[in-house]
Amino acid sequence: METLKRTKIKNLLQAEPGAEVLAKGWVRTKRGNKQVKFIALNDGSTINNIQVVADATLFDEELLKKITTGASIGVRGTLVASMGSGQAVEIQAREIEVYGECDPMRYPLQKKDTSLEYLRTVAHMRLRTNTFGAILRIRHAMAFAIHKFFNDKGFVYLNTPLITESDAEGAGDMFQVTTMDMAHIPFDKKGRVDFSKDFFGKKTSLTVSGQLEGELGATAVGEIYTFGPTFRAENSNTPRHLAEFWMIEPEMAFYDINDNMVLAEEFVKYLVQYALDNCLDDIRFLNAKYDEGLEERLRSVLGIDFERVTYTRAVEILEEAVRNGQQFEYPVHWGTDFQSEHERYLVEKYFGKPVILIDFPKDIKAFYMKQNEDGRTVRGMDVLFPKIGEIIGGSEREASLEKLERRIDELGMSRKNLEWYIDTRRFGTVPHSGFGLGFERLLLFVTGMANIRDVIPFPRTPKNAEF
Ligand code: 4AD
Ligand code: MG
Repeated sequence: METLKRTKIKNLLQAEPGAEVLAKGWVRTKRGNKQVKFIALNDGSTINNIQVVADATLFDEELLKKITTGASIGVRGTLVASMGSGQAVEIQAREIEVYGECDPMRYPLQKKDTSLEYLRTVAHMRLRTNTFGAILRIRHAMAFAIHKFFNDKGFVYLNTPLITESDAEGAGDMFQVTTMDMAHIPFDKKGRVDFSKDFFGKKTSLTVSGQLEGELGATAVGEIYTFGPTFRAENSNTPRHLAEFWMIEPEMAFYDINDNMVLAEEFVKYLVQYALDNCLDDIRFLNAKYDEGLEERLRSVLGIDFERVTYTRAVEILEEAVRNGQQFEYPVHWGTDFQSEHERYLVEKYFGKPVILIDFPKDIKAFYMKQNEDGRTVRGMDVLFPKIGEIIGGSEREASLEKLERRIDELGMSRKNLEWYIDTRRFGTVPHSGFGLGFERLLLFVTGMANIRDVIPFPRTPKNAEF
């Protein structure tokens, strides 16, 4: 069997009949009768299975018994035109080897319950399902497209640290990193934890954003992007939050907020187009199984211009909606941070397309955002998407040393810890901008899945770090 080279099922399904082929994969189903067995085989290269037809009289009964759902097998045979509907070709098996049996009584995917909730409890095995095969392939395609988009534009991929001393977003939801023995924590004379004894000699955490280091890169080589794991210890058990997620953060010298918005819009449209061009089988599978509006929704964002609205105008729209009877769980007035219900109202009900919100009250945004002339808003931007809400957060950055330092003081943050960052404004400061795209939020949109735990292979959420 091994003298013949294995062909992936994706390629077999597109090949002309006639050739002698070798396929390897996992059995999805086996049906048939005493004379003939039909095996649906999948190897993960495509959502589609290849049908293997085995003349039962040619094979040992014991061998055929081992071919159960989940078992891994190799099949050698002739690729022939298929009589059945649903596939152009199938394999007429001559030789079958079982690599690994799969006990039907114990295989977790054999269960009747195939709900997404159940699958999360067997996340080590759920990757074998059609659903997660589709999600993993789309996830990969999106990661590749992200690198391609920026590479084609001449951006430099910058690796920013995962272990950091700074809380870039000022939100304080960080996971501490320490090698201290929790049972014997060293204290100083004043009874405070003595971090000088810790591994780095100071208090460190997992990063909530690579942006601050990204700005160092952008003010050196012009345009950079990061793409890496990001950690937030927010205790929010929502379908849109993970404690460990992936973020893409481009940062560009000489870009103002308008350039930033243009890039963000071009970027997400590019990714959606790439998904439609390269993952249509998987998208259609998910469309049929979970979200009948998916493909249409994806196409709908391509042809239109995203709506650009100031925060202040958005508050007026929401207040007006409330006056007209719209009910929100959380109140909204100037100065509040929008909840996803407000974001979704703007996107889905009011504008009917993606929205870019700009010019937020300074008190609900991070210290680094460029301050507007009015003294009360900053040049932030959030891109809001249907069904998801915020998918991108970004801003033009405050380039003035004086204004930046004043804001850091106002917020009671430590200038000392940020000296390295402030240096970008001391030495050759430039107007610059950037944003962060939540990779899993993008995937929610592209796959149509409703829960963020279902678009990352191994989700990390409060009280859940299994697998
Ligand atoms: O809006 P955020 O907090 O912005 C930043 O971190 C900036 N430093 C980005 C920048 O300007 N370079 O986060 C950016 C995006 C959000 O819009 C959201 O898509 C995603 O990251 N995100 C999360 N995704 C999953 N789980 C969480 N807990 C997330 N928090 C943020
Ligand atoms: Mg945000």
